[in-house]
Amino acid sequence: MALTVEQRFFLAILVIAFPFSAISGDPDILSDFVVPPGTNNTLLDGNFFTYTGIRPLVNSTPPTNFTVTKATMVEFPALNGQSVSYAVLQYPAGSVNPPHTHPRATELLFLTYGILEVGFVDTTNKLFTQRLEAGDMFVFPKGLVHYQFNCADNDSAMAISAFGSAAAGTVSVPSTVFGTNIDDDILAKSFKTDVYTIQKLKEGFPPKA
Ligand code: GLV
Ligand code: MN
Repeated sequence: MALTVEQRFFLAILVIAFPFSAISGDPDILSDFVVPPGTNNTLLDGNFFTYTGIRPLVNSTPPTNFTVTKATMVEFPALNGQSVSYAVLQYPAGSVNPPHTHPRATELLFLTYGILEVGFVDTTNKLFTQRLEAGDMFVFPKGLVHYQFNCADNDSAMAISAFGSAAAGTVSVPSTVFGTNIDDDILAKSFKTDVYTIQKLKEGFPPKA
């Protein structure tokens, strides 16, 4: 059966678009590594490939709030083009890392000490949860909403997360929804509630100036 002009057009778009939809990580680079503009390559040494920003956390007093310390290409420019990054996650007893997503990366969490309840929701709205012990790993698939909770009464927990992107990005569900001036009526309709309830929720997430 002969294809119509429209069918041929859509087929052509599909063929052109397919390779792009199959690329799921950071773009490949055409050099060994990427240096900031203006860098004199002859002066490059191991310092450029070293990040010491996590050192202060070693043997430090645990924080009193949930704390993320990142090593992305922003903090550690040598990661540009390498499709990897880290975050160190510190959870005081009872603290939560609220539901969020990373639009550009899978996250592989390694619990170094403590216990954590973790979970993510897939695109069919199925919730997957687990209780992790020190030494366990858990993978949060790319782009899916996930959280962690230190359910211990007294003990803090610490995890190291690796990301498959030098710039994974983080979209926090509570602050994206309630801290960005989305119209109260729209939120009330979306959450099947009233404007008063939405305004109460918004009080916890003042929009950034
Ligand atoms: C933990 O899930 C994090 O991305 O900070
Ligand atoms: Mn995460």
